[in-house]
Amino acid sequence: MKAVRRDSLYVRAARGENTQHAPVWFMRQAGRYLPEYLELRAKHSFWDAVRTPELAAEITLQPIRRFGFDAAILFSDIMTPLPAMGVDIEFAPGPVINEPIRTIRAVEALRIPEVEEIAPFVAETVRELDRNGPVPVIGFGGAPLTLAAYLIQGGGSKDFAEFRGFLRAEPAAAHALMDKLADVSIRYLSMQIEAGASAVQVFDSWAGLHGAEVFAEFGVPYLQRILSALASYDVPRVYFALHSQHLIEQVAALPADVFGVDWRRPISSYRSTFGTRTIQGNLDPAILLGGTDLVRREVERVLVEGQGGAHIFNLGHGIHRTTPLDNVAAAVDVIRSFERER
Ligand code: CP3
Repeated sequence: MKAVRRDSLYVRAARGENTQHAPVWFMRQAGRYLPEYLELRAKHSFWDAVRTPELAAEITLQPIRRFGFDAAILFSDIMTPLPAMGVDIEFAPGPVINEPIRTIRAVEALRIPEVEEIAPFVAETVRELDRNGPVPVIGFGGAPLTLAAYLIQGGGSKDFAEFRGFLRAEPAAAHALMDKLADVSIRYLSMQIEAGASAVQVFDSWAGLHGAEVFAEFGVPYLQRILSALASYDVPRVYFALHSQHLIEQVAALPADVFGVDWRRPISSYRSTFGTRTIQGNLDPAILLGGTDLVRREVERVLVEGQGGAHIFNLGHGIHRTTPLDNVAAAVDVIRSFERER
């Protein structure tokens, strides 16, 4: 494991320092709103790009070169470690599971691969980025509950009804699945840290679909296990759950160092819940579809509300595919020139 770039603005803020300037990166900063990404994607499929370290590293750095973000999130997907478990996944453009997991037998058939077998190209990409990249690399994985949503539903969905039904109808099979996903997640995230990731983020994009009791039963124990297993690395652990305001007490009790929040509540309203831990967020990505004046005004509002503790500027969810590049540049410009009160 290499130095984790402790002196970088992003890592300092992630470790709880109330920095003078907020570091900034955007979820999905590498992707389809960038012409240079689209150009590469015209020649390579999404999976091929993810699985080829030179391409994945190049795509990871595209938004850094263009906008000067403070951190580079590995170009990959939350589904990347799952083929090693024996799951067949395609992208169209979201993940499609040809044989959704709907029985205890299907869960039992899933392998727990050795760490070397889990997406070895990811370790190579992270090593390359750590060696030659200008900013810290954020490794990431999906939370078991969010990975299971895709595996059981079979693909993206607006409410994941089959998945939510399965949790209630087949709790033993659901726990067995979550258990395996947690084991693989620990190996996969550890591997990224050992390869040089300066932080790891756990994406729990669909946690908010559940009520507090279901999240307590099927989400929290596995998140606890994963985040605790990573504690000894002394690398910031970031937890992001969209639309999770009703789960906030349980979220705040997780052993994470940084909490990603969406735009539904101002950052200032979370400070008493998260204490001295860092908050990451929370511009509504839809704002970046508006005019530059709106962007500048709303970015400043988020910066003002983010004062009073450590803040990493980000969006409340991934950047939209039709985002004008000038708006991203304007947002970064406002963030760079904003002196935070401490
Ligand atoms: O943030 C980044 O720049 C890093 C790359 C990244 C991708 N997916 C690339 C991607 C990250 C961090 C993810 C995580 C991911 N993947 C999540 C969690 C975050 C979130 O957005 O809630 C989820 C739920 C997925 C599953 C997934 N993969 C979906 C829903 C899609 C379709 C997305 C879309 O924009 O239509 C994908 C495919 C995917 N993952 C693309 C990219 C750039 C689009 C692929 C393409 O080029 O066609």
